[in-house]
Amino acid sequence: MTLPLYVQGAWFLGAALFIFGLKGMSSPASARKGIVIAGYGMLIAIAGTFLVPGLQNLGLMALALIVGGAAAWISGKKVQMTDMPQMVAIYNGMGGGAAAAIAAIEFAKGDAHSTVTTVLAVIGALIGAVSFTGSCVAWAKLQGVLKKAHRLPAQNAVNVVLAGISIALGLAMIAMAPAQPMLILGFFVIALLLGLIVTLPIGGADMPVVISLFNAFTGLAVGFEGYVLGNPALIIAGIVVGAAGTLLTQLMAKAMNRPISNILFTPMVASGGGEAISGTMKELSALDAAAMMRYASKVIIVPGYGMAVAHAQHKVWEMTEILEEAGVEVKFAIHPVAGRMPGHMNVLLAEAGVPYDKILDLEEINGEFGQTDVALIIGANDVVNPSARTDKSSPIYGMPILDADKAQNVIVIKRGKGTGYSGVENALFYTDNCRMLYGDAQPMAGEIIQHLKSMS
Ligand code: TAP
Repeated sequence: MTLPLYVQGAWFLGAALFIFGLKGMSSPASARKGIVIAGYGMLIAIAGTFLVPGLQNLGLMALALIVGGAAAWISGKKVQMTDMPQMVAIYNGMGGGAAAAIAAIEFAKGDAHSTVTTVLAVIGALIGAVSFTGSCVAWAKLQGVLKKAHRLPAQNAVNVVLAGISIALGLAMIAMAPAQPMLILGFFVIALLLGLIVTLPIGGADMPVVISLFNAFTGLAVGFEGYVLGNPALIIAGIVVGAAGTLLTQLMAKAMNRPISNILFTPMVASGGGEAISGTMKELSALDAAAMMRYASKVIIVPGYGMAVAHAQHKVWEMTEILEEAGVEVKFAIHPVAGRMPGHMNVLLAEAGVPYDKILDLEEINGEFGQTDVALIIGANDVVNPSARTDKSSPIYGMPILDADKAQNVIVIKRGKGTGYSGVENALFYTDNCRMLYGDAQPMAGEIIQHLKSMS
């Protein structure tokens, strides 16, 4: 059926807006605008879908939109920045599930499709189903519902067998198209099980990378199902999401120095590992920290996950403004995997009003630590752990880090002697030029501000 021009036009416009939206998201300065543009794209694409002639079940479609839209609106309003990864996981899972459901309905209808369409429907169904259950497990782990990584005795062999069976059933569906209901059911059960079994053993530390990988899968699945339905908006949106997800997965895996295959099939050692560290952690007071920074020429602030949990970004920016008024040069150093999701720190600092030109990436800022008087580390740990450079036995060996240890003085704000996400001790905290300021990041930043004010 050839669709009317206004439907095709709406889908084309929707797809174009997705691409412009994504372009906007490539910089923190335009990210907010980008997401709004992509949102309008989605609205136009959905409106176009309602205009397809002869459409049935309009009431059900409207009901699904109202229920889904309300749930997304409420959860979007309520979600904390620190809970964003699990929200992305569950939304992503819904996308994969929706793609698999489209394929299931197409198979169940038993309409004659060309072989190419059936092949794409099967591939889309397989990756959509894997992404659905995998993303649900990722959500459960990050939300703390599933607390442990469950690893089967011959985990990788089970993965291979399940993947083999689902591919074989998929091939049978292509060969026997239209397939029997039991075959379709068996295919989906195994594909859903595969997503579950592959994801269950993966540890929380690797979960954001896995979510990003499933995001790429979902994009591909949606793109394939878009071809099956003859819907260009779905094809373009799927390809864009698939490509963006793939690039993001690669970027994160590189920043953690963990190949994707390693993340999926070899669990990270959650604690211990690495050479024994000698020396002691030395404390300082908030007053001393304030004085060191007030009389410095240059300070680099390294924020991490702890700053996010403590919601300390506004205080950190207030502190920065006071230091700058006193003539101190202040910059922010952002590690690509600081926090718990890509861009976590950039979003928080931007929210607090930190200008983008003060926020520098690892490659841009690492050369500057050597000429810095004070590196102030707030709630960051793994991303400044020098063992990643030097200790081959460390689980994080090879991960690129921020060279905060090269600053003349290092101040670390954290609550106690807790390790970072990797569970590895941080050798930096024991070095001679490092001082610990124990406490929650927000009140500690507040105390420093009070002392700075009294010095002016
Ligand atoms: P972490 O290594 O997780 O360290 C955070 C530190 O913050 C902890 O040592 C903790 O020490 C401290 N902390 C916690 N709550 C605090 C609070 N309220 N006030 C002050 N300090 C607090 O964080 P990071 O340096 O940002 O590194 C991120 C980690 O996540 C890396 O291992 C990375 O590989 C992993 N990861 C990130 C991503 C993305 S995309 N961002 C993806 C996958 C994995 P105390 O308990 O002693 O306070």
